Amino acid sequence: MSITAFKNTPGDSRRKVTVSSIQQKKQNQQRITCLTAYDYATARLVDEAGIDMILVGDSLGMVVLGYDDTMAVTMDEMLHHTRAVRRAVKSAMVIADMPYGSYHEDETQAIKNAVRFMKESGAEAVKIEAARTELVKRLLDAEVPVMGHIGLTPQSLHKMGGFKVQGKTLTAVERLMKDAVALDRAGVFSLVLEGIPREVAAMITAEVATPTIGIGAGPDCDGQVLVLHDILNLTFGDTPKFVRRYADVAGLISNAVYSFKNEVETGAFPSENESYHLPKETQAALETISERKRAMRR
Ligand code: KIV
Repeated sequence: MSITAFKNTPGDSRRKVTVSSIQQKKQNQQRITCLTAYDYATARLVDEAGIDMILVGDSLGMVVLGYDDTMAVTMDEMLHHTRAVRRAVKSAMVIADMPYGSYHEDETQAIKNAVRFMKESGAEAVKIEAARTELVKRLLDAEVPVMGHIGLTPQSLHKMGGFKVQGKTLTAVERLMKDAVALDRAGVFSLVLEGIPREVAAMITAEVATPTIGIGAGPDCDGQVLVLHDILNLTFGDTPKFVRRYADVAGLISNAVYSFKNEVETGAFPSENESYHLPKETQAALETISERKRAMRR
């Protein structure tokens, strides 16, 4: 992807969000916004609303592809959706989530896959789960900015024994603090804190230079991220308590689909105005032919 692809179109005053502008926001004590998106239409709306970062999360496995968890998501699926998002986004920073198994074998595999995201999908950074500090350094050597992710890390689902709030005991708090500081030192440009007590998130946020982006981590983080489908009521079933529903898109879609079905069945759709018409000359020629056929039959 060339540099020019990152420029906004004329008349579009939004500035390109970059690793440095994200870090600047923490220094200026301005809150950072991040949402997930997985396709062209939603990514475009999220970007046009001025959200700072768009995460093509592996949560797409659950909310778009219908898997039970994120474990089965593949590189090909992530690349496919990141490309669609990239085509839509002009201003926000696009971050691709490295799926389970794409960075767990060894550093060579991890770098190869991270570079694929940058080269083949136009991602500007990748996110990896857990405190893999050596890998973060290697990725930075390969010019790949990294977003860290600690706390409730969904790819550790089976190790954690379910989706459970993390960092509740003193030992667990100390572990989280250590991991956050180590990732900060390793050079992550931001750090997702998921499913941890707000007190712990506040301590980490005060301790590290990198911006913290909370999800179920309380209001004291430098920014917040949520899954777009959760805030739109498009995830079916219960959502965690940290999710706030900002719209009922499921309701809107259902109403529209019921209305379409009803109007097709009753003949109310399509109307005259929603139909194409023959040009007058063609209509006249058709009528002449029909008249001749009728005459021959008489
Ligand atoms: O996959 C995802 O959407 C995520 C965020 C919710 C942090 O990892």
